[in-house]
Amino acid sequence: MSLKGPVPQPGILDIDPYVPGESAAPGGIKPIKLSSNETPLGPSAKAIAAFKAEADHLERYPDGGATALRKAIGERYGLNPDRIVCGAGSDELISIITHAYVGPGDEVVYAEHGFLMYKLATLACGGIPKPVKEKALTADVDAMLAAVTPKTKIVFLANPNNPTGTYIPHDEVRRLHKGLPGNVILVLDAAYSEYVRRNDYEAGVELVASSDNVVMMRTFSKIYGLAALRLGWAYCPAGIADVMNRTRGPFNVSSPAIAAGIAALADRNHVEEAVAHNDRWLPWVEAECRKLGLDVTPSVGNFLLIHFPTAEGKDASAADAFLKSRGIILRRVAAYGLAQCLRMTIGTEDDNRKVIAALTEFVGRK
Ligand SMILES: Cc1ncc(COP(=O)(O)O)c(C=O)c1O
Repeated sequence: MSLKGPVPQPGILDIDPYVPGESAAPGGIKPIKLSSNETPLGPSAKAIAAFKAEADHLERYPDGGATALRKAIGERYGLNPDRIVCGAGSDELISIITHAYVGPGDEVVYAEHGFLMYKLATLACGGIPKPVKEKALTADVDAMLAAVTPKTKIVFLANPNNPTGTYIPHDEVRRLHKGLPGNVILVLDAAYSEYVRRNDYEAGVELVASSDNVVMMRTFSKIYGLAALRLGWAYCPAGIADVMNRTRGPFNVSSPAIAAGIAALADRNHVEEAVAHNDRWLPWVEAECRKLGLDVTPSVGNFLLIHFPTAEGKDASAADAFLKSRGIILRRVAAYGLAQCLRMTIGTEDDNRKVIAALTEFVGRK
């Protein structure tokens, strides 16, 4: 692509801007939006109240260090607040760390169906994205290690991964870390960790605590239901926290987000309800899809990857159009190399039943 006028840094014009999940259905129907892995339960009422209370002080800058929020996160998870860096969503944290450590020609490794922001952040720095083949839509540790070269600066691992919903057990994460040179950062993106119900899974707290090159990222956008406020955090080795604090915007997290985040963390019941809801409906949707003859990738997150046949009229694109005509918006994931799949966020009971009813109609069409 050529542009008139000033020329940006190399790599930037190679970026296809991130396309968020759609939110509008045709014909002005109120949509059932299951395209962005948002929680069907909404945020805690306490978080909403804390957010509203901030409206009285909008003339003030936020606390640039998000001190109270880092303290609350530290208490909740037993972490040292000095090693926590908050950001405007984990998207911003991915961007901050990549800008700080990746320069032109440097390489960034991630699994081939890994979260798209890893590629976009790398290109924005003039770096070279190195997607690595997966096995059964799951990150392949050996292949990722084999892709590391002297130019590699960061390895990103979304665990569980979006959009596949798959995860690797903690032993495998440790093996990945062990195989990396000490100058390569392993970023464990644990955006969906609260939903995972597996004994062999860990978000990565201990690995961060016991090494100099592992960072764990978390978000308030998913189970806490605060996606609109843009709030995430990273738990880092002291040296990396220092670097991220030097390069982030001085007021990158707003006061309403800080207040809502603190209140959300304190409302443990709300999080438990969200987990229980997911535990109930994730297996149900998966089983119903299978009854319809649709393959589903087993997921440990709050979403499912549904596979469609390739036949015209039966494929993911046709399914997407059909569902939209019923006011149901799932996520096309062709940008992830999964053109024959749709990703569905687990919704309310009513949403889930409506999707299955619509898919039943779609699959049964002649
Ligand atoms: C794996 C993963 N990481 C990070 C994010 C970004 O979350 P945030 O809203 O905190 O920027 C998402 C959002 O979809 C995600 O799926």
